[in-house]
Amino acid sequence: MARKPLMAGNWKMNKLPSEAADFFPEFLELSKWQKEQVDVVFAVPATHLDRLLDIGEESGISFAPQNVHWESAGAFTGEISIPMIQDLGLNYALVGHSERRQYFAETDETVANKVGTLLSAKMTPIICVGETQVERESDKTVEVITRQIKSFASKLTGGDFVVAYEPVWAIGTGLTASQEQAQDVHALIRRLLKEEIGEQADTVRILYGGSAKPANISGLLAQDDIDGALVGGASLKPADFAAMVQAAM
Ligand code: G3P
Repeated sequence: MARKPLMAGNWKMNKLPSEAADFFPEFLELSKWQKEQVDVVFAVPATHLDRLLDIGEESGISFAPQNVHWESAGAFTGEISIPMIQDLGLNYALVGHSERRQYFAETDETVANKVGTLLSAKMTPIICVGETQVERESDKTVEVITRQIKSFASKLTGGDFVVAYEPVWAIGTGLTASQEQAQDVHALIRRLLKEEIGEQADTVRILYGGSAKPANISGLLAQDDIDGALVGGASLKPADFAAMVQAAM
């Protein structure tokens, strides 16, 4: 089934608000991006979002927070709520990134809460799953991905969402998963989604993340169940991310 590709950059904790906007003229010039062909999203630090709204309006690029809380307000120091993101007119939100799971006590349960609240708010979560090196080396990849997908499956009661498969051992390491490794897990994710939501699973975009680069993106995008990428390091460089978006067009 043809799914519109989605290329997402995850800037993590990089760039300053005052320099964030400088990225886009060069990116847009080099990529010659056609928004009808590929969706482009940048998950940026929350401090950058308000400064990028005009660029989003003018270019069609979507911007997203890298995390949200599922409560609408309250004593959750340091968190940002979904109404705050909606108030900025944004649609996407990254949920469950492995770095949130590793360093900030994100769990399958909190991921499910965020997914449910985002979908209820008619927003589009980009839901990250992936196994660690120890889990892969002990042949637990299927078990881990199955657990992670099933942990939020009951929240998938309609609405648009994206899944990002990010093998933790490939993030920031230069050790990209092979095309076969990535396709195998993407196909597993689609099978698991089909068990939960039926044919809608064929419309869900599943992104690959983990040392995706201009040199390997075409081979990854050629796989049946890889519909785009969630890119860290290479999304910080206009020329690199432009080349990757071009590969998806
Ligand atoms: O969310 C994307 C990120 O985790 C991948 O990072 O630097 O391996 O592309 P990187």
